[in-house]
Amino acid sequence: MIGRLNHVAIAVEDLEAATKTYRDTLGGHVTEPVDEPDHGVTVVFVNLPNTKIELLAPLGENSPIAKFLEKNPNGGIHHVCYEVDDIIAARDQMKAAGARVLGDGEPKIGAHGKPVLFLHPKDFCGTLTELEQA
Ligand code: CO
Repeated sequence: MIGRLNHVAIAVEDLEAATKTYRDTLGGHVTEPVDEPDHGVTVVFVNLPNTKIELLAPLGENSPIAKFLEKNPNGGIHHVCYEVDDIIAARDQMKAAGARVLGDGEPKIGAHGKPVLFLHPKDFCGTLTELEQA
C-alpha cells in the first residue's frame, strides 16, 4: 500500500545552523523557513531529486518536537513519511491491523497542504511514521 518516500524529517534545535549544513556543506537546495503554528514547528525543505529532507525546529511553547530534542540535543531523525493514494483507506487498514493512529485519528493538513496521519512508533520499528495522501 505505501508508495514513494515523501520525506525524512530531521528535528534540530538551530534551524539556521542546520540550513548551513545542508546548503553549504552538503550542497543541497534549502527553501526559506516557514512557520507552522498549527504544528508547533518551523520548517525548511531540502529538495532532492528523489525525495525531500524536512528540517524541523520547535516553534512556540508546546512544540511536539521539544521532548524529542531534549532526548536528542544534537537533533535526529524524527519521522519518515510515505505517500498513500487514499488516507482514509490507509487509516482503516492500519487500525484493522492493530496499529495505533495518533491523535483523534482524523487526518490533518500537513506541511505540504495535504492530508496526513501519524502512526505510533512502537508499532513501526521504533520510527514515528507519517502517511500523506499524495
Ligand atoms: Co512530515
